[in-house]
Amino acid sequence: MESIWSAGVKEIQPKTHPALQGDVKTDVLVIGGGMAGILTAYRLQQAGARCIVAEAKTVGSGITQNTTAKVTAQHGLIYGDIIKKRGLDAAKMYLAANQQAVADFCMLAGRYPCDFEEQNAYVYSVDNRDKLEQEAQAYQKLGLSANIVECPSLPFSMVGALCMQHQGQFHPLRLLWELAKQLDIYEHTFIRHVQDGIACTEAGSIHAEHIVLATHYPMINIPGLYFMKLYQHRSYVLALEGAPHLDGMYVDACPEGFSFRHYQNLLLVGGGSHKTGKQGGGFAPLRALVKQAWPNASERYFWATQDCMSLDNTPYIGRHRAGTGQMYVATGMSKWGMTGSMVASRLLCDLILSGKSDLETLYSPRRPMAGGQLVSNIGSAAAGLLSIGGPRCTHMGCKLHKNGEEGTWDCPCHGSRFDGEGHVIDGPAKKQAHV
Ligand code: FES
Repeated sequence: MESIWSAGVKEIQPKTHPALQGDVKTDVLVIGGGMAGILTAYRLQQAGARCIVAEAKTVGSGITQNTTAKVTAQHGLIYGDIIKKRGLDAAKMYLAANQQAVADFCMLAGRYPCDFEEQNAYVYSVDNRDKLEQEAQAYQKLGLSANIVECPSLPFSMVGALCMQHQGQFHPLRLLWELAKQLDIYEHTFIRHVQDGIACTEAGSIHAEHIVLATHYPMINIPGLYFMKLYQHRSYVLALEGAPHLDGMYVDACPEGFSFRHYQNLLLVGGGSHKTGKQGGGFAPLRALVKQAWPNASERYFWATQDCMSLDNTPYIGRHRAGTGQMYVATGMSKWGMTGSMVASRLLCDLILSGKSDLETLYSPRRPMAGGQLVSNIGSAAAGLLSIGGPRCTHMGCKLHKNGEEGTWDCPCHGSRFDGEGHVIDGPAKKQAHV
């Protein structure tokens, strides 16, 4: 099961990087060679900082290779919610940060060819026009044009789609690998432990003034307690040949719905989302849609991805925690990891180089959190811990569930995943499980 991005670029050989051997020193260590880590390191290096990236496997081999690579400030129906819960100024700041992220991708794409295309983004609803109109009102308060349009090219009826113009889509690995060529990177370098500005591996250590955790799910349980304020989702993607070309990028206002974008002659259909380790979703709803809508289309690629969700759908980017020195984190991208990674690179670069960022409060991992999802996370973890029998997760000991569709063992507590032999596929677990 390989994504269109990793399977489709066999002709490009990414630069390989050595594994760490011995001890080294740097200004900034970034742990994690995905989009957030590489963009942050690139921006720091452009600003003159000495920076090293440590990646446990190879650059782009984690979540980045499985994204659908939509670059937009339209993150579902988020703006009405931010205005209600955090105020108009916060919503304006969120919009401006993500519009800047789209512009930054566009600028990078001008230097490093990565199939970037400008596209309009649409969030549609099949049954709730009121929700779209409420979000359109939020757009007007933010000074955005707020057009609810028909989308006759989508294969089902709907009540409308709210448009955000001048967004984009691209090929994530093409950009990532180009940026990585400019950087000092250690691959196959698994950081086992971080303390007091020293990151330790089995073969050596990296001493750094500042350390950024860009590992999708933070690798440190305590302090920080990120496992209480994150949960993970799996979702699924098909790349279809022989389906009609769609202009624009589309997501359903309902989290369980479908998303669409094209790449060259292929149509990418996403959906089937469910909490990792729980039943439901999968490829079945996608294949049922394709069978009904485009019976002559054929699947060229299919893959799944894993998203870290924050409690309020705004990422956690900033200082890791009081008491952990000069340590920073970027996580909880809540399905919008491309723009979230670019925002993280800007925010963390400002924090590291000048000690402050105008986005610090908005994205602070220590901001007050609403209770509903937090209670659900705690309840789910308690249920997993108390479940009897079965193989156990090596993160905190919850009972693992067999994922028949992917042949893996998945943890319903915080979303770790293990292959058929118990090797870790997705964290926060670090050690092999007995399955
Ligand atoms: Fe935390 Fe499994 S991921 S117990």
